[in-house]
Amino acid sequence: MRQIILIVGGVVVAVVFVVVGFTFKQTNKEELALMSRLQSRTQIIADSLAESIEPSYRKYATSSVQQVIDRITNNERVAGLGVFDSKGMPVAVSNSLPKETLQELLVARVMDSNVPEGIFVKSGEEMMYVFADPIHDDERVVGALLVVQNAQYINDTLWNIWRDNMIRFFLVTFLFLFAIFLMAYSVFIKPLSRMAESVKAVRRGDVDTEEPEGGHGLFSPLSTEISKITHSLKRARLVASEEARLRLEKLDTPWTAERLKEFFKSYLKGRQIFVVSNREPYIHKKNKNKITWQIPASGMVTALEPIMEACGGMWLAHGSGDADRQTVDDRDMVKVPPDDPGYLLKRIWLTEEEIERYYNGFSNEALWPICLMAHNRPLFREPDWRMYRQVNGKFARSLLSEIKSVERPLILVQDYHLALLPRMIKNSRPDAEIGFFWHIPWPSAETFSICPWRKEILDGMLGADILGFHTQQHCNNFLDTVSKEIESIVNFEEFSITRGDHTTYVKPFPISVAFPNNGKAGKAPKSALMEKYKLNTEFFGIGVDRMDYTKGIMEKLKGLEFFFSLYPEYQERFTFLQIAPPSREGVKKYREFNEDVTREAERINKKFEKNGWKPVVLHKEHCSYEEIYPLYRAAHVCLITSLSDGMNLVAKEYVAARSDEVGVLILSQFAGASRELRGGALILNPYSAEETAKTIFEALTMPVSEQYRRMKKMRDTVKNYNVYRWAAEFLKSLSNLS
Ligand code: G6P
Repeated sequence: MRQIILIVGGVVVAVVFVVVGFTFKQTNKEELALMSRLQSRTQIIADSLAESIEPSYRKYATSSVQQVIDRITNNERVAGLGVFDSKGMPVAVSNSLPKETLQELLVARVMDSNVPEGIFVKSGEEMMYVFADPIHDDERVVGALLVVQNAQYINDTLWNIWRDNMIRFFLVTFLFLFAIFLMAYSVFIKPLSRMAESVKAVRRGDVDTEEPEGGHGLFSPLSTEISKITHSLKRARLVASEEARLRLEKLDTPWTAERLKEFFKSYLKGRQIFVVSNREPYIHKKNKNKITWQIPASGMVTALEPIMEACGGMWLAHGSGDADRQTVDDRDMVKVPPDDPGYLLKRIWLTEEEIERYYNGFSNEALWPICLMAHNRPLFREPDWRMYRQVNGKFARSLLSEIKSVERPLILVQDYHLALLPRMIKNSRPDAEIGFFWHIPWPSAETFSICPWRKEILDGMLGADILGFHTQQHCNNFLDTVSKEIESIVNFEEFSITRGDHTTYVKPFPISVAFPNNGKAGKAPKSALMEKYKLNTEFFGIGVDRMDYTKGIMEKLKGLEFFFSLYPEYQERFTFLQIAPPSREGVKKYREFNEDVTREAERINKKFEKNGWKPVVLHKEHCSYEEIYPLYRAAHVCLITSLSDGMNLVAKEYVAARSDEVGVLILSQFAGASRELRGGALILNPYSAEETAKTIFEALTMPVSEQYRRMKKMRDTVKNYNVYRWAAEFLKSLSNLS
């Protein structure tokens, strides 16, 4: 479209030049013709005046001269006539003669030179032609006569020519633009966009045709080439799908997006998936005059997004971006990923008060601290709890309206924000198959018993058919909690809970990342990033955490301080980049934590900085995967010090990014990932600054062969149990129940 506007704009500018040039020439010609006609008419009047007055003038018959003047003035419709004596004094003038000083000058000049002369002058608003002619007695000049003509009609005529030409120009331009637009639309835009749509559909495997639509006429050579490519693509897809189908039989081969798609088709017969979570996978934001989008920092999103991309379906979540409303349709839906849509995102809108009480309050000040057990006292407020129930109801209503006409819908509810949703859905739609995944730890029964609404929460969760946690320990804690809190039959052998006539199965599903990650690893040049973050030292380490007190960032900084004191030879040789995008800023504890971390990093930097080097680079902004992946690939060490963490997918992302099979992962023993990555990662207790310092030293001095051995082991683990397998196992457990 931009190109068409440019071409049309260029043509319009050229036409403007031509029209203005022609009009200019035309008016010049017309002006000369009109002026010359006026001059000769004036000359004739002057001649006839001279002829009529000269006899009377010689006899000084002033009254006769006056009579001649009046007669000619009436007959010829001139603006004025006058006769002057040899001193320039008026002998007789018409009443209408305009009083212009120039006239006297002209009369004097004409008598001196004895040559008639005419000039165009402006008189008030009008243009006049003033003509003077000497009067002779024999050969002697004895006076002069003056003829004044109104020449304004010349200007008017020229102005009319300009106006008519401009109107003609605008009309023609308008018709021309309209015709161009219609032509461009039907000849280029429409066929091209139809071609693009059909190529996209072929790429996604949505249609069988290989011939792109709209590829006729002008585009037929292009269409032929595209159909060859789509033919190859279709064949490649068939082969991949056949391979994936065969691999389904052999569970020990790696899971890929393709294999998950195939699994979905054959086991679940293409049933529609509905994911429901608080956090949305894509946030649209206003950025100056543009709308941009962002993938939020959330382990839940990191894991679920590739699954939705592979399987399609609908994801319902809170629309939290300031441009979210501008990007949805009238059903509050938008197709995502924005650059290559594969599934639908339905946004649910929450009021300020709902966000304050349901999200900031009950979810993040009550449930989060009670489950994460990171020494932060949970805050239980009755209005927060009421709002939590209310908002869970809002999500339930939105989901129920979407599954109205879907038989046995597959519903995947995510995380602690929506604990009451499974029961609400099950009560209205007993045929729905509901999987609920709890992305954070489940505490001991004693810890959870302090929650005043524990029974309602447990009952809400038990509306699910499958309840997933990251680890067996969390499953055990949950079974234990249920057995102590509510009436039900808890089967510790089968890991199931029966309440009323409904049974929920509780199983561990250690969540993971996309590996291989479908080409999403960033391509940003490494050196530019190193420059940006001032990482040009011999070694650098990386930490990527939301600014959350459970991530142990303060402990990490203490550990780094200890490291630089214990091993001063690493000063100016090692830099640590901590990426910590702000999180949950509506919660006071998080705001305070942000300030504490900033102060601590500044203090440590002040203590050790020299020659422009600082030990810690604290980057408190959101970073895209494209930016983080090259940094993962270049970092000698990745340091994760969570005080409590369901899984921690940063650990697995770092491993997935290290295709060079070196680099060292240091991982807190309190992160769920430490169970799977033991033997590869260096495991530490982040509460001990001395242990952290020594582990960093161990990482930086680790021989490459040892790094390779460990990294290889971790990569095999993540590759073997990636998020595609996680999804397949979760969905399989869910569908096996029926
Ligand atoms: C944890 C939770 C996710 C959540 C993420 C980010 O990983 O398990 O559900 O999305 O934190 O937190 P936020 O409050 O920003 O969604």
